[in-house]
Amino acid sequence: MGARKGIIMAGGTGSRLFPITGAVSKQLMPIYDKPMIYFPLSVLMLTGIREIAMITTPEDQPQFRRLLGDGAQWGLSLTYIPQPSPDGLAQAYLLAEDFLDGAPSAMVLGDNIFFGHGLPELLTAADTKDAGGTVFGYRVSDPERYGVVAMDAKGAAVDIVEKPAKPPSNYAVTGLYFLDASAPDRARAITPSERGELEITTLLQSYLHEGTLSVQQMGRGYAWLDTGTHGSLLDAGNFVRTLQSRQGLQAGCPEEIAFEQGWISPEALHALAMRYAKTDYGTYLLGLLAEG
Ligand code: TTP
Repeated sequence: MGARKGIIMAGGTGSRLFPITGAVSKQLMPIYDKPMIYFPLSVLMLTGIREIAMITTPEDQPQFRRLLGDGAQWGLSLTYIPQPSPDGLAQAYLLAEDFLDGAPSAMVLGDNIFFGHGLPELLTAADTKDAGGTVFGYRVSDPERYGVVAMDAKGAAVDIVEKPAKPPSNYAVTGLYFLDASAPDRARAITPSERGELEITTLLQSYLHEGTLSVQQMGRGYAWLDTGTHGSLLDAGNFVRTLQSRQGLQAGCPEEIAFEQGWISPEALHALAMRYAKTDYGTYLLGLLAEG
């Protein structure tokens, strides 16, 4: 078994954000001072993953390439894979099967923002588990919009149901999935749902029913933000702005994580900082160097 590889699912239509997503991918929209895609990318980097597949629509791929390149500037290796139509999240494992080449994976949705103290430890724990999978349950006020975890009297996960009219709990499954090397085979066995998608929920059920899916709670100390509507996109930007200006620390900063992980040299970080010399972002990166 090879090292775990990353997948970012950044296709989709972004129809709830029209007209702003008419010409630009949702995942390239700003979250205050940086593109949305920096946040899910940072989650994979915090896990220690350096080989990452970016799944986008064919039309949007050139813009992602322009922004992120081959990833070498952050010590990463990025592979671009087109998804011709938004046929569902489980399709990621079919599109990325050759890229994965038998390795386990961590997949994150390109529009999901996670923030919280202890996140790196939570990610490392999920990464360490070899067989089966790990997903995260997060309490939300509107579970009917998500895949929802059904639990028994002891709080153990017994099922995951997609967008239930009567949610069995308030715990939604977040868009971050650590799955073992069997995910592509399992995805191949799935038939499209009534809405015509290869459902990630069906894939997760195959693990859960075997008893090999760990459903970890992501507690109230974490933020898992929605960015899919005009209001929630602005709220997420304001959240990040408030947090960053109060703490003087960046959220979702790939340069910082790459530097902390020892994937890029101080000289490389300096060169990246100088590109952004006119911004607080650049000043922040120079500050990291000054702190050593
Ligand atoms: P959604 O929010 O379900 O869909 P969307 O982004 O197309 O937006 P809308 O509902 O407004 O039309 O998708 C969640 C994330 O998964 C988002 O980052 C896009 C991504 N996605 C894909 O990359 N491929 C897919 O087939 C689907 C369904 C989603």
